[in-house]
Amino acid sequence: MKIAVLKEQASGECRVAATPETVKKFIGLGAQVAVEAGAGVTASIADADYVSAGATVATRADTVAGADIILGVQGPDVASISGAKPGAWITAGLNPFGERARVDAYAAAGYEALAMEFMPRITRAQSMDILSSQSNLSGYKAVLDAAAEYGKAFPMMMTAAGTVSAAKAFVMGVGVAGLQAIATARRLGAQVSATDVRAATKEQIESLGAKAIFVEKVAGIEGEGSGGYATEMSDEYKAAQAELVSSHIAKQDIVITTALIPGRPAPRLITDAQIATMKPGSVIVDLAVEQGGNVEGAVAGEVVVKHGVKIVGHRNVPSRLATDTSALFSRNLFNFLSAFWDKEKNAPVLDEEIGNAIRLTQGGKVVNERLLG
Ligand code: NAI
Repeated sequence: MKIAVLKEQASGECRVAATPETVKKFIGLGAQVAVEAGAGVTASIADADYVSAGATVATRADTVAGADIILGVQGPDVASISGAKPGAWITAGLNPFGERARVDAYAAAGYEALAMEFMPRITRAQSMDILSSQSNLSGYKAVLDAAAEYGKAFPMMMTAAGTVSAAKAFVMGVGVAGLQAIATARRLGAQVSATDVRAATKEQIESLGAKAIFVEKVAGIEGEGSGGYATEMSDEYKAAQAELVSSHIAKQDIVITTALIPGRPAPRLITDAQIATMKPGSVIVDLAVEQGGNVEGAVAGEVVVKHGVKIVGHRNVPSRLATDTSALFSRNLFNFLSAFWDKEKNAPVLDEEIGNAIRLTQGGKVVNERLLG
């Protein structure tokens, strides 16, 4: 059983899909691990550390030659893994909707592609969930990115020269990233409020010491769909939400948006007209910018200024904390593969529930329901 760990090729991707810690654990299970030279450098892991953990470090071609399982943060280009075994697993964040052509190429080449972001949200898979582990640190980083762009302090400070008032921060979308953003903004001393379409988040917001801003008395208020994810809201709800947000947002210094609806473009939460009501110098961070954006005028990969308000649209926010996000991502992959490890076969064997959810291709075909439907 050979596991190959690739150096990421996508521009701006600093993470790596295995650390010396997980390499050692895979070897403990009975696998052989090959790591592409330089794979960990941008996450502060030297090749020598992988060698000390028991891996071989090699060129890409030698790394993938005869591999049974390929680990990546993002999906590798199919031509670059042509030496892998027929039917080899490609286990990574594969962006199945955004990179459909690549998924088709994996099928045509006979690989079994496993999309880690399709991991079902069930209790036993929590430790395998890359969306949660990466979103958590994105929520934290979004607040630091806002603080770095903001020309004032977050906490209230009483100094001999006078008082500095606390920043008002508003978090829109209180999933994993939003909860961490609330906690981080509170730790920095901001006055924090937050909103979501899922009523269950109200208690979570309050338990973190923030103020919950919620649409009330509108039909279809419960926005929780399957697996704890949000659903698209009614027009009546959207109008009530826009009105509520308009009056609240004008008083905010910092806004962090994280709202996503699986398989759809991100919902538009802030319009240009609303941005115009904010104070100059305020900062908005749009964590959904790569999924279409929650904020009108946000540009992926840029910080733009509209009406004196900075709109931050960094791409691939998890990669901006590559050492920690790599460590968590790598553990997610190890937790997943080790949970299904069959000692006699010295290989993982997936069960139906998780296998059917994450498997995109098998036997030369695209087999995942979410891609076929
Ligand atoms: P997500 O990244 O899909 O969306 C972020 C947030 O945006 C969600 O809270 C969503 O309700 C909210 N949102 C969507 N449309 C909105 C709108 N129009 N206005 C305001 N907010 C809007 O969500 P994430 O972070 O993946 O978490 C979703 C849920 O799944 C949470 O309840 C989380 O606790 C749960 N979860 C469960 C896991 C498990 O059981 N294994 C693992 C991870 C998360």
